[in-house]
Amino acid sequence: MIAANNIAASSFGVAGGLIRGGFIAPKTDNAAAICNAIALMSAYGCVLTSEFASLQAESAVKDDGRINDDAKSDIAQTPRPNRGEIKLESVGKIYRSSAGEVKALNNVSVEIKSGEIFGIIGRSGAGKSSLIRMINRLEKPTSGRVLVSGEDIALLNEKELVALRRRIGMIFQHFNLLSAKSVFENIALPLKVAGASREHIEKRVGELLELVGLSEKRKTYPSRLSGGQKQRVGIARALATQPEILLCDEATSALDPETTRSILQLLRDINKKLGITIVLITHEMSVIREIADRTLVLERGEIAELGEVWRVFGAPRHEATRALLAPLRQDLPDDLAAILLKEKPKYADYNQIVALEYTGEGALEPDLARIANALHAKVQLIHGGVDRIQGRAFGRLLVSIPSEARLPDFAPLMQGDDALVHNIEVIGYVPLPDYSI
Ligand SMILES: Nc1ncnc2c1ncn2[C@@H]1O[C@H](COP(=O)(O)OP(=O)(O)O)[C@@H](O)[C@H]1O
Ligand SMILES: [Mg+2]
Repeated sequence: MIAANNIAASSFGVAGGLIRGGFIAPKTDNAAAICNAIALMSAYGCVLTSEFASLQAESAVKDDGRINDDAKSDIAQTPRPNRGEIKLESVGKIYRSSAGEVKALNNVSVEIKSGEIFGIIGRSGAGKSSLIRMINRLEKPTSGRVLVSGEDIALLNEKELVALRRRIGMIFQHFNLLSAKSVFENIALPLKVAGASREHIEKRVGELLELVGLSEKRKTYPSRLSGGQKQRVGIARALATQPEILLCDEATSALDPETTRSILQLLRDINKKLGITIVLITHEMSVIREIADRTLVLERGEIAELGEVWRVFGAPRHEATRALLAPLRQDLPDDLAAILLKEKPKYADYNQIVALEYTGEGALEPDLARIANALHAKVQLIHGGVDRIQGRAFGRLLVSIPSEARLPDFAPLMQGDDALVHNIEVIGYVPLPDYSI
C-alpha cells in the first residue's frame, strides 16, 4: 500500500503539482484500480477511484472551482494541421523492479491517423495498456519516441504535459467515477480543475450530458447507474476539455453485449461528430469488428499484424490473430467433424464437403447460383456464415456435393475478374445418409 501511495504521489507531481499534501491509503489492493487512479489523477489533477479519492479531490478543488494558476489553461484548443495524429517510433518499454525485468513492448512503430478509430487487440499481458499509456505519458518509453499531434511528448515540461493531458481523454473498464459526486459533478471535475468559470461548466456539462444521453441523470449518484450509464458518464468526463484524442482501455469489457453495442455506437457518433481520434484497446475481436477502421494485433509486446480491420480479419497471418478470431470463426460443427473422413471412401455413397472462404478482398460476395453453376452439381449449404466488415463479406461456407459430381479445377474459381471465392477446397468426405441431398 505504501508503494501505491508513492506511485500516486510521484505521478501527481508529474501532472504539475496540482494538489498539495499527502495521500490517504486506497481501500483497495487492486493494482489496476490504482493504476487507473493514477491515470486520472495525472490527467485531471485530482480524480481518484474511491472515497479516499473524492476526499482528496474535495480538498484540492476550492469552492470557486480554482486550484492554482498552473492548473489553468485555455480549454479552447489551438488548431494544428496534424491535430489528433499519433506516431509511435520504435517504442520499447522495459519495466524494472526488484523481481527483475519485464519487456512489455519491443520496437513498436505505428502511425494513427487523425480522426480514425484505431483498435489495439491482444491477449492479456500483450502490452496493450503499456502502449496506450505512452500516448498521454502515463508511462515513458524506455526507447523510441511518441509524437502526439506532431509534438515529441518526451520534451514537454510539466505545464505542457498538463495541457497535453487535457487534449487526451481516457476511459477505463471500471469507469473510475467518484461515488460521492453526482453525475454532473463527475463530468464537471476536469473543467473545475482546469479553472473554468461556473457558467462555462454549466453550459459544457449540459452539452455533454445531452451528447451521452444522460440529461435526466445529472443529479444522480454513480451507485444508482447501470454499467452502461456509468461508462457514458466516463465518456462525458473524458470529453469535457474538448480533447482531440480519446483513449479507451477495455472500456466495454465490464459490460454485457447489448450495452457494449450501445457504448460502441456512442463512440462512433462521437468520432463522427467531433472528428476525435479514438484509440481503443480490447481483447474482444467483436469490438474491433464493430467499430475500428484499422487494428493492431499485439503479441508479447510486438506487432503481430497491422492493417485495415477487414484485411486482418479476412486473412489473419499470425497465430495470435487466429486465436483471437477463434470465437468468431465458423468452425466445423461437432457432429460433422465426428464423421468427416480425410480420404475419399472406397464405396460410392458419400458426399464431398467443400469449404468456400471469403476474406473481404475485392467486392467478392457469396453468390450461391454462381457457385452451383461453377461446381456443376447440386450444392447443399450445410454450415457456415458470412459476416460483413466495413462493407465487405467475409466468412466460410461449407457445402455438400454428391460423390458422383466431378468437381472442376478450383484454381480458376479463385482468380481474375470472374473469381467467385477467395479460397475453395475439399475438406473431406462424409458417408451417406448423413447430409445426403
Ligand atoms: N508497472 C509495471 N511494472 C512491472 N511490470 C508491468 C507493469 N505494468 C505492466 N507490466 C507487465 O508488462 C506486461 C504488459 O502489461 P500490460 O501492458 O498491462 O498488458 P495488457 O494491457 O495487454 O494486458 C505484462 O507482463 C505486465 O505484467
Ligand atoms: Mg491492459
